Amino acid sequence: MSAEDAQAPSAFALIGGERAVRELVDRFYDLMDLEPDYAGLRALHPPTLDGSRDKLYWYLCGWLGGPQHYIERFGHPRLRARHLPFAIGIAERDQWIMCMHQAMRELSMDESLADRLAAAFFNTADWMRNKGG
Ligand code: HEM
Repeated sequence: MSAEDAQAPSAFALIGGERAVRELVDRFYDLMDLEPDYAGLRALHPPTLDGSRDKLYWYLCGWLGGPQHYIERFGHPRLRARHLPFAIGIAERDQWIMCMHQAMRELSMDESLADRLAAAFFNTADWMRNKGG
């Protein structure tokens, strides 16, 4: 890491800290619950989304460069392995990405930050694919 990187604010700071991450996660799951376009993605999740909300919130805080709430509770995320019970292909990946884009847009996140996060979310979501199509 260069000295410049060490001084750059984390995405966690830019987004607005824990409260903003929680807002993003809550909007993401509200949309997943409401929007017919994300019904396939919703169907993979448990009937109640409370646990999913907490886990994604804890995970994203650390993923964005903030506190490692998820690792403190569960250890190494092993995110791809934890997604193996769910069949994830292009359609599921794209619904996750579209749902997250919509959440960022509706919260009026700064556009350059949203673009940067969208690219990083895409890479992570694509890596989660575990079936063809
Ligand atoms: C590619 C499309 C994706 C699909 C279809 C998907 C689906 C799911 C499902 C069904 C669960 C289980 C929810 C529960 O047990 O309450 C889950 C858990 C989780 N997902 Fe995803 N996910 C995707 C992408 C992502 C991405 C991109 C991230 C992070 C940036 C992520 C982070 C998590 C986390 C942290 C959990 C909790 C893991 C655990 O501790 O059990 N997911 N996901």
